[in-house]
Amino acid sequence: MQKKVTLITGDGIGPEITQSVKRIFEAVEVPIVWEEVNAGLTSLEHGDELIPQSLIDSINETRVALKGPITTPVGKGFKSVNVQLRQMFDLYQNIRPCRSTPGIDSKFDNVDTVLFRENTEGLYAGLEFYDARLEMADSIARVTKKGSLRIVKAAFEYAKNQGREKVTLVHKANILKNIGRIFLDAGDEVAQDYPEIEMNDRIIDNMCMQLVIRPEDYDVIVTTNLFGDILSDLCAGLVGGLGLVAGANVGDDFAIFEAVHGSAPDIAGQGKANPTAIIRSAILMLRHLNLLDHADRIDQALDKTLAEKSSCTADLGGDQGTQGFTDAVINNLK
Ligand code: NAI
Repeated sequence: MQKKVTLITGDGIGPEITQSVKRIFEAVEVPIVWEEVNAGLTSLEHGDELIPQSLIDSINETRVALKGPITTPVGKGFKSVNVQLRQMFDLYQNIRPCRSTPGIDSKFDNVDTVLFRENTEGLYAGLEFYDARLEMADSIARVTKKGSLRIVKAAFEYAKNQGREKVTLVHKANILKNIGRIFLDAGDEVAQDYPEIEMNDRIIDNMCMQLVIRPEDYDVIVTTNLFGDILSDLCAGLVGGLGLVAGANVGDDFAIFEAVHGSAPDIAGQGKANPTAIIRSAILMLRHLNLLDHADRIDQALDKTLAEKSSCTADLGGDQGTQGFTDAVINNLK
């Protein structure tokens, strides 16, 4: 039985890196069929909506999508497609595993964290107001008990299922007392159901310092939207950069998997992009679909490829392009 999966190739380097996933999936004979649908700038250029109805229909049917990066204008223009999709499909968990990879130059070789970021509330809830007369702007962070309970529960469930030992809640409750209290209370409530898992909490600024000094102290991390956005890139920096890290946006009914980096317009169309992050996102997607053998085979081949500098792309110090790197992954498949 072939499972249908929505593929949003995305903007900039999106088509190049998603092509790499398609080639690897073919080589491993993954039992899925892609339903390709555009979104973002590419969709606008084709005279369609930013988020076309065909995309919404496709995700409603398949319930699972792999998404290339989408360009968002900074400080003006349309609202982020990523944020809209997360809200539209109630993808309240943003999950980003960051682990050190042998062969990859980075400051540490012992990082193995999984960050759970609340993905629909906080400062990204869309409560933004601009008063032109007063030249004043308000962006309101909305945190709810329900939203906090479900993301903290997701982090604890993950810790339990993956045999992890500790969950760290990250907040700013010393200053943002109300939203901080709701989040910390959610932690205390959920932790009672998981006595075997240790819980602690850190204030966001201290957490940033702790992570760049002693990342090995952190296991599963759970936090609100903005702090999670920043911490997830910080964690990516600990293991070699954005080109390596996968992301999953997961709700109770739908899931969209995506690389954490953007559309890299500076190198788009040049065949230079590193497809590792989107391949790792695709591996997370295979695990979500319970295609564990396919996921393991690709994961092992990818690690083997990354361990050989000569097989890597330029951002990792190698001299291969996207295609050359993908060929190496396929050659390393067992
Ligand atoms: P970016 O991640 O696209 O690029 C930052 C730097 O990293 C650039 O020098 C780029 O060449 C390099 N880079 C990124 N991915 C790479 C890869 N796979 N291989 C090799 N080098 C890579 O971030 P930037 O420039 O801030 O954003 C560009 C656009 O992407 C913006 O419109 C932004 O809104 C959007 N964006 C979209 C995201 C998404 O769709 N999930 C996430 C982040 C940004």
